[in-house]
Amino acid sequence: MTQHVNFDGKKEANFPKGLTERMSPVRHDKWEDVKGMPSPRRISHLSITTNENYEQMLNWYKVVFDATLVNGIAGMMEFLTFGNEHHRFAIVKEPSLQAKPLGRDPRGGIGPAVVGLTHAAFSYASLAELLFAYQRIKEAGITPSYCQNRGLTTSIYYYDPDYNEIELMVDNFDTTEECYLYKRDHQAKDGGLHSYDGNFDPDKMLELLKSGVPDHDLKDRNKLIELNKAGRI
Ligand SMILES: [Fe+2]
Repeated sequence: MTQHVNFDGKKEANFPKGLTERMSPVRHDKWEDVKGMPSPRRISHLSITTNENYEQMLNWYKVVFDATLVNGIAGMMEFLTFGNEHHRFAIVKEPSLQAKPLGRDPRGGIGPAVVGLTHAAFSYASLAELLFAYQRIKEAGITPSYCQNRGLTTSIYYYDPDYNEIELMVDNFDTTEECYLYKRDHQAKDGGLHSYDGNFDPDKMLELLKSGVPDHDLKDRNKLIELNKAGRI
């Protein structure tokens, strides 16, 4: 804690929703407390450089993540956050930079034709939350490029205005342990890694969820494939 941050003024600080939830404070380990190679605790933020798409990019990340503007230099470099992190996105404008060349996406659409980070994925607490977010984002005019059950996750993929891919997802199993074991031992055999037969229509999935179909069934890859074949999802 530094002098210029006044935590007594917490009420007046008007923190964005979620910022003070599930906080795990930074520790003050002594040198001898660190016994081996540490791993980072979490991914903190993504920094994305754009060009004349700056305002579109900033707005896209605000809408998709219901993100709050923290600060920055308007029109040049601004920082957005959600949840318990000081910032999640830095959007930076460099007008001289070229857009990504586009080519055919392996899944059949249009996507970046350059190497690089494929996507960043963000995990929701439930299928209902994921689909609620999907619906809100759609109302703002942003639609997915692709929706897929990969066995491990139910995933909705988007391209931002610069064709960076963002995956919104929910785990298909309740615990990290189950997810890990599925990923390690089953996903490749189930086709979740290499086949695209777990496609779904998120509007149809939303209707099925609303009509009372349990989220567990909608996240089950085999059941989803059957629903898909029957034209129900
Ligand atoms: Fe992913």
